[in-house]
Amino acid sequence: MDNDILKTLYSRQDIAEACQRLGKELETEYQDRVPVVIGVLRGSIFFMADLLRNADTYMEMDFIDVSSYHGGLASSGEVQLVTDITTDVAGRDVLLVEDIVDTGRTLKYLIDLLLKRGANEVKVCTLLDKPTGRVVEAKSDFVGFVVPNEFVVGYGLDYKEQYRNLPYIGVLKPEIYSNN
Ligand code: PRP
Ligand code: MN
Ligand code: MG
Repeated sequence: MDNDILKTLYSRQDIAEACQRLGKELETEYQDRVPVVIGVLRGSIFFMADLLRNADTYMEMDFIDVSSYHGGLASSGEVQLVTDITTDVAGRDVLLVEDIVDTGRTLKYLIDLLLKRGANEVKVCTLLDKPTGRVVEAKSDFVGFVVPNEFVVGYGLDYKEQYRNLPYIGVLKPEIYSNN
């Protein structure tokens, strides 16, 4: 997989440091309440695991699977709910964990859904924020890195469902896209 990468944007070390910093921020935020932390599948799996092991505070975890890119380069514009959470979020403080916020559509869909179900509060922690991609308004409360306007893969982020298990985040060589 390394051969397909043009350049590394965030190394394993960069990511580990971001997880430590954000974990501490979550400890402070939730020191006197127990949030339901919801990982957004599939992209958030590694970030969820590393982030939360750096947050020494009480929490519950659940997962929701939504998809809008269908593995490709561009958002379809339509968010599909694939697998729902089983936690009742009514009256609960929710923290959404994302790998990346790009157009903002996924986040807006999820925040609207959770508030409609009666969540008391919905906060967002994302490893990557790409503000230049924004189509709908979507703000994150905890951000690892602000990324340039490039298609990134690794550490959960895919191209055609591959490269998620790359242990760092990078940009693919242009020929990878043109060959497919
Ligand atoms: C990607 C990414 C975010 C979302 C961000 O997920 O993991 O969840 O898109 O894009 P947006 O801000 O433009 O909505 P995707 O739909 O590709 O599913 P995946 O996590 O399973 O790869
Ligand atoms: Mn995703
Ligand atoms: Mg994807």
